[in-house]
Amino acid sequence: MTVSEVRKRYLDFFAKRGHAIIPSAPIVPENDPTTLFTSSGMQPLVPYLMGAEHPEGTKLADSQMSFRAEDIEEVGDNRHTTFFEMLGNWSLGDYFKEEQLPWIFEFLTNQEEGLGLDPNKLYVTVFGGDEESGMAKDEESVAIWQKLFGEKGIDAKFVELGTEEHGNEVGMQGGRIFSYGAKKNWWSRAGVPSKMPAGEIGGPDSEVFYDFGLPHDPRFGPECHPNCDCGRFIEIGNSVFMQFIKQEDGTFKELPKRNVDFGGGLERLTAATRGNPDVFLIDAFDEAKSEIERHAFSFSESKDGQPVYKIYGSSPEVTKAYRIILDHIRAATFMIAGGIHPSNTEQGYVLRRLIRRAVRYGDQLGLSQGINTNNSSIKFIAETFIRVYSSAYPHLVKDVNATLDTIADEEKRFRKTLAHGLRELEKRGLSSKLSAPSVFELYSTYGFPIELTEEIARERGWEIEPGARVAQLVKEHQAKSRAGAAQKFAGGLADQSEQTVRYHTAHHLLLKALQTVLGPEVHQRGSNITAERLRIDFNYGAKMTDEQKAAVENIVNEKIAEGLPVIRTVMNKTDAEKLNAEHEFGANYPEQVSVYSIGPKDATQDDPKFAEAFSIEFCGGPHVANTSTLGHFKISKEEASSAGIRRIKAVLE
Ligand code: ALA
Repeated sequence: MTVSEVRKRYLDFFAKRGHAIIPSAPIVPENDPTTLFTSSGMQPLVPYLMGAEHPEGTKLADSQMSFRAEDIEEVGDNRHTTFFEMLGNWSLGDYFKEEQLPWIFEFLTNQEEGLGLDPNKLYVTVFGGDEESGMAKDEESVAIWQKLFGEKGIDAKFVELGTEEHGNEVGMQGGRIFSYGAKKNWWSRAGVPSKMPAGEIGGPDSEVFYDFGLPHDPRFGPECHPNCDCGRFIEIGNSVFMQFIKQEDGTFKELPKRNVDFGGGLERLTAATRGNPDVFLIDAFDEAKSEIERHAFSFSESKDGQPVYKIYGSSPEVTKAYRIILDHIRAATFMIAGGIHPSNTEQGYVLRRLIRRAVRYGDQLGLSQGINTNNSSIKFIAETFIRVYSSAYPHLVKDVNATLDTIADEEKRFRKTLAHGLRELEKRGLSSKLSAPSVFELYSTYGFPIELTEEIARERGWEIEPGARVAQLVKEHQAKSRAGAAQKFAGGLADQSEQTVRYHTAHHLLLKALQTVLGPEVHQRGSNITAERLRIDFNYGAKMTDEQKAAVENIVNEKIAEGLPVIRTVMNKTDAEKLNAEHEFGANYPEQVSVYSIGPKDATQDDPKFAEAFSIEFCGGPHVANTSTLGHFKISKEEASSAGIRRIKAVLE
C-alpha cells in the first residue's frame, strides 16, 4: 500500500467507529515551552487527557506530524526516521482496552477496511508490572489478545519476560504475547514511572510488533524476542492506557477518567503492508530517491571514464547516505513550512544540523556537482517532498520558494563554515599531528564534522589521535546537553506556568491592537510563547515607528486595566467564521472549534456579547479568566522576520 492509502484507510476506519478526525497540530507546539517539537500524537492533547473537554468529543483520531530529535544519530538503518507521521486514536474517558485492542487488531488484519496483515506475523507485548512504583501487571490485555488471536485460529501462548535482559536470555519460547517491565511497556513523555515529574500522566501500554521474518542477528543478544533490536521485529503500534497522574509525593493517582492513547508510525505500518522492513522503500520516498539517483555519480572513482552511479542499495555506505538525506530533508521541509529558521538555538539549531548533515552526506554521493545550476546541492530534494505531501499537508505549498531558499542559504553558510574550519584545521595540522581535543574543538566550536577531519588527516598523512578518544569527548558533551534538555522538560512541566497562560491571553490583545493601529489586513503568521516572553510574526510591509509601538502598548495596557472577562465558547466553524473570529490563514480547523472572546466588561459565559467583544479568536486555550491578572505589557523588540513579515517580542512585567 501507499502512505496515502494507509493514512486514508486508518482515518476512515476510526471515523466509521464514531471518531472525530482532527487535523494535525503544528510540528512546533504552540503554547508549550517545555518541549521543542511535537514528538507524538498525544502531546497536543495532554490537556484533554488530563480532563479538559475537547470540542470534538471523546473519540478522536488523526495523523500527527511528529519529530524526534534524539533519533538524529540513529538515522541510517532501515527503520529510524526523525520525522514521521503518527496515526493516533484517543478515548478521552470513553472506551477502554476491551474495545480498543479489538479495533486495532481488526484494522491491522482486515482485508476490506484495514491493512490486511497476516495475523501470524503479529506479536504483542503487555505490561508485566513494576515493583518500584507498585503498578500491577496488565492481565486484562493478555486475556483480550488471547481471545483475538484465538478467533483467527492462533493459539497465543503468553510468556512472562519481565525485563528486557531476561528476554535476551530465554527468547521466544513459542510465545505470541509477551510481558515486559516498565522500561518497555509503560508510556509517559518522561519515560518510566520513576522518571516522571509530578503532574505528568502515563500508563501501561500494549505494543504490536510485525515479524519481518529475518534471521536473528546474535550481535543483539543470544536469543530473539519482540523487543530485540536486531530488526526481525518492528513495532507498528502502541496502545497506552493513560490512567495515572504522578503526584508531588512520588505516588500515583488514578486520573478522573481512563483514557486510551494509541500511536502507530505511518511509515512503519506502510512498510509492514509491503512485507519489507526498510521504511525508506515506501512510496513517499520514491520520487526523492530517483531524483537523487540522477545526480549521484562520481567520475573520480571511474576506471573507464564513465560515471559511476551511486544507486540506493549499491553499498551499505551509499544506502546510509541516502537514508540520512531522505530523512533529514523531509524533516527540514516540514520544519521550515512550520515556521522554523536555521539558527544556533532550540528548534533552529536542530534544523541547522539536519540541513548540514544532509549536505555532508550529499557530498559523499556527489550531489555537489549540481550546485552551480541549482544554487544548492540538495534543495531539489525538498521540492519532491513538497509535491508528494502537498495534498495531505497543504501548508507545505504556502511558500515553496521561501522553503527552498532557506535550505539553499543554510547550505551556503555551511560551506563557508567548512572553508573556515578547513583553515583552522590546517593550522592545527602544522605539526602533522592532530590531538583528540583539537579534533573535538573543530567539531564543537567550528562545526567541522569529525569524519571530515579524519578524512583530510588521512589524505595528508597526518597523525591523528584514535577516534575512540574523540568519541569519548563527544559523548561527554552530548551527555551534558541531554541532561540540560531533560531538565528543561522536567522543570518545564512543573511550572508549565500561569505565566505562559498570561502570555497567551496577552497575545490575543496584542494581535487586535496591531490590527487597530496598523490596519485590519494584519494577521498572525507565526507565534511562540515561553514563560519569559511572547513572540508574534505578522504581515506588515514596514518597520513600525516608535509612535505605532507606543500606541499598540497603550491599547494592550488599557484592555488589561479594564479587567475584561475572557470567555471560551465552542461552536461550529461556520458560525465562528461569521463572527469574523481571527484565525490563521491556511490552517486546517475541525468542524467544531473553540473560540475565545475578550470583553466587553459585562460579557458572561451565557451571554458572551460577541458584537461588543474587543477580540475574538479561534483558539484551543488555555487563557486567564480576566485580563486584570496580566500585569504591565511592553514590546521588547520589533524586527524583520522575513520579507513582508515583522516580528515582535513582548514581555509582561
Ligand atoms: N503516545 C504513545 C507513543 O508515542 C502512543 O508511543
